[in-house]
Amino acid sequence: MGKGYSPLFIKGWPQSGRGICFCSASQLLSIPTSIKGDNMSNLKGTIEKFIEESCENIKAEAAGRPVLCALSGGVDSAVCAVLAHRAVGDKLTCLFVDTGLMRKNEGDQVTALFRGTYAINLIRVDAEERFLSKLKGVTEPESKRKIIGEEFIRVFEEEAKKLGKTGCLVQGTIYPDIIESGADGHKQVKAHHNVGGMPLNIEFEAVIEPIKMLYKEEVRECARKLGLPASFANRQPFPGPGLAVRCLGELTKSKLDLLRDADAIFREEIEKAGLQKEIQQYFAILPGVQSVGVRNNERCYEETIALRAISTKDFVTAGSARLPYELLETAARRITNEVKGVNRVVLDITPKPPATIEWE
Ligand code: XMP
Repeated sequence: MGKGYSPLFIKGWPQSGRGICFCSASQLLSIPTSIKGDNMSNLKGTIEKFIEESCENIKAEAAGRPVLCALSGGVDSAVCAVLAHRAVGDKLTCLFVDTGLMRKNEGDQVTALFRGTYAINLIRVDAEERFLSKLKGVTEPESKRKIIGEEFIRVFEEEAKKLGKTGCLVQGTIYPDIIESGADGHKQVKAHHNVGGMPLNIEFEAVIEPIKMLYKEEVRECARKLGLPASFANRQPFPGPGLAVRCLGELTKSKLDLLRDADAIFREEIEKAGLQKEIQQYFAILPGVQSVGVRNNERCYEETIALRAISTKDFVTAGSARLPYELLETAARRITNEVKGVNRVVLDITPKPPATIEWE
């Protein structure tokens, strides 16, 4: 059993009744729907009614004050931004911090959707250099995570201060976040950064959490009803520290670019095969392992890319998704041909536990 992992007794799960699961407690409580059952919902009435009431509530809570919303590219913050925009229009400003740890073209997609399609006032902060310089020479996984979290807060603070008018902060807290944080009468498992606000040195006049009573599937449903594209509504989970947890060792722009390219090819092949809805998470990893190969009849010594596709109901435990062999071969051929500096592709088929989904 790894550090921080404990055996948890889960009543009523899986279907057989009771079981012991070796997993981190925080992860267990973050996905309660499948454990608690499909009927679990805090939603009173329909999604349409929720949207209507939620807009009225945001408008009332904002009471004419400026509203700031942090966009991450994920479905929760996207739904909050669109709801807030419906509620307060131009009073809303969205802040998107591009850490340089996003996937290929992700920053541009977020910008195009919110500035273009929704005409939302969006500030995009290109903070890649800033993050990479803070992370220079850092190889220890937990230190990497901590630096990224802290830097994100600093950038957010600076940008919010530049706006000069604090007003209200809209946050994409969802119901599982509240359970994790011990609010709502639940026992605390971990302090979730969403609840009660990020530890910012700025006082907002009010914090508005429009989707705090929704489960993830309800948020996705809301996104569809609000007309967000499927790429946002169905977006697979992407960790806060981004590609940093998939690029082992020290982070550099060239390593991240290489990983971004390989990851984009793998995701494209899965989506071409129409498997994106069946596989809960799929991505590439750069383990930092070089090996000998042969290219143009000459010896080469290049990077390895690992592919991971997982099948899970709750992300607490996971198995390897059984991908068609042809798809894997095409992905491996394309990655080694199209991504400069990669001469080998391997497949991670380890279940969780003992391996986690992410590599760091
Ligand atoms: P692991 O790797 O712990 O991941 O098996 C379980 C799920 O959580 C996601 N994950 C994160 N999500 N911030 C997040 O918002 C994080 O720091 C983080 N780390 C892991 C992971 O992608 C998977 O879906």
